[in-house]
Amino acid sequence: MNLIDEANEVGYIARSTPKGQELIDAIKALKKAKNAVILAHYYVDGEIQELADYVGDSLGLSQAAENTEADLIIFCGVHFMGETAKILNPTKKVVVPDFNAGCSLADSVPVEEFAALKAAHPKATVVSYINCSADIKAMTDIICTSSNAVQVVESIPADQEIIFAPDANLGRYVAHKTGRDLILWEGACMVHIDISLEKLAKLKIDFPEALLIAHPECKEVILKEADYVGSTTALLKFVETSPNTTFIVATEAGILHKMKQAVPNKHLIPAPANEQNTCACAECPYMKMNTLEKLYNALFYELPEIHLSEKVRVPAYKALKAMLELSK
Ligand code: 13P
Ligand code: SF4
Repeated sequence: MNLIDEANEVGYIARSTPKGQELIDAIKALKKAKNAVILAHYYVDGEIQELADYVGDSLGLSQAAENTEADLIIFCGVHFMGETAKILNPTKKVVVPDFNAGCSLADSVPVEEFAALKAAHPKATVVSYINCSADIKAMTDIICTSSNAVQVVESIPADQEIIFAPDANLGRYVAHKTGRDLILWEGACMVHIDISLEKLAKLKIDFPEALLIAHPECKEVILKEADYVGSTTALLKFVETSPNTTFIVATEAGILHKMKQAVPNKHLIPAPANEQNTCACAECPYMKMNTLEKLYNALFYELPEIHLSEKVRVPAYKALKAMLELSK
């Protein structure tokens, strides 16, 4: 029985994995032996970020996926990110550590309901946030990320009707920034909308010198209070370049790993969430499904693999490529 068959038979996380430093060394050795690249979003655990060849926001990760020369792509993030890498690399193997690492935004758009919205606005240009399934990307004219959503909307003629899906908070932010009327899909990121305005207000009293920096997936009431709004990469750059030394960071707490490395002498305070979780901050349960053990197994077995039909991939690629061309 070959390894793939064995993995299918016993379940790919059943094999015992090395522990501690041996596990880290084994991941590095497997990566080299298989000419694999590890791409990781800022929201995965720091220990995974440390093993990745590239860590970034959704735009940077798409660009890295487009340009990689590796034979095997291991995407440590969530499912739609693995799909995005596959859309861009149909001939390469794309593997994710946990197939069940989803996203509340991607889950908020059933294909049939989206088709009905499109049918109600047949002339509208469809802009979809990258946090959606490949099926929705295939029904889209141009993808955007939180880094370029304003630029993407501004690239569309002013008199053109626009459907913007699935993040309504990002959509409202873009509508406000561009002065455009957008037809919004009412999806939300369960992590960002859980950031507590009340607890933030208290923090602002305790740390009056702090700047509040926020991801545009946050609720409008929080974005209104923010001193700076941007994608994860933009937030990281902001703390690096701002003369200020204290920041309240209103996004998923994984970003603090790179922030602390970039500005070890600055005071970074994760924004508090309503949810009483281990860190009392905003944590994405899906991103946290990525573990070193699962990463090892993904590399070892080259499973679970992302597959897409060409019927979905080709139109999804067109929408994604339209964004990548605009963001060159
Ligand atoms: P960015 O990577 O564009 O900052 O978006 C954050 C996010 O929620 C990814 O799931
Ligand atoms: Fe989705 Fe929010 Fe998690 Fe990002 S942080 S993957 S948008 S649920």
